Amino acid sequence: MKKIAVLVSGGGSNLQSIIDSIDNGDIKNAEISVVISNKESAFGLERARKSGIDAVFSNDEGEIKNIIQQYGCDLIVLAGFLKILSKDFINAFENRIINIHPSLIPSFCGVGYYGMNVHRAVVEYGVKVSGATVHFVEVKADAGPIIMQEVVEVLPEDTAEDVSKKVLEVEHRLLPKVVGLFSENRVRLKGRKVFITEIR
Ligand code: GRF
Repeated sequence: MKKIAVLVSGGGSNLQSIIDSIDNGDIKNAEISVVISNKESAFGLERARKSGIDAVFSNDEGEIKNIIQQYGCDLIVLAGFLKILSKDFINAFENRIINIHPSLIPSFCGVGYYGMNVHRAVVEYGVKVSGATVHFVEVKADAGPIIMQEVVEVLPEDTAEDVSKKVLEVEHRLLPKVVGLFSENRVRLKGRKVFITEIR
């Protein structure tokens, strides 16, 4: 059984999609051991509590690292986690931290591109597609090897809110899908390339 730590800073709808996918059996070989937020008021902590999952507030990176290690987590999922993580933290969990970003990396990502900022930039630029990306976390923001992406169409009349809704729908499918693949040991990283191994 893979043990997962989910780190949140806000509403936790991506966390909820993982909880629901475990509860309905879509994700078979994983459990969320702990949810940690750097924001005491994050609704994501409330979602965890409602599902009987340990929910911890901490804004101290060292403490967060110790908590994850104490729970013996195999995979760390950043789901709307807005605190920048240090090289030490990332190196402590090499190739075991994944993040979901609401654009098609390498577009509209990096410092300052989070939440609605991403979708506003997408609309302003006038791109025809956007989407969501799940990637490994490295020190440079949103720059780790890409695991999976899914595209949404952007119409000229779309507002940033319209794009946000379309992308969030995709996120809620994509992140649980990737967590499921990790739980089945089907994600292989070679250099920057990520291979998804077939079901044996
Ligand atoms: C999502 O759009 C995610 O892509 C980004 O932050 C948002 C988190 O939303 N990283 P929620 O807290 O999971 O509802």
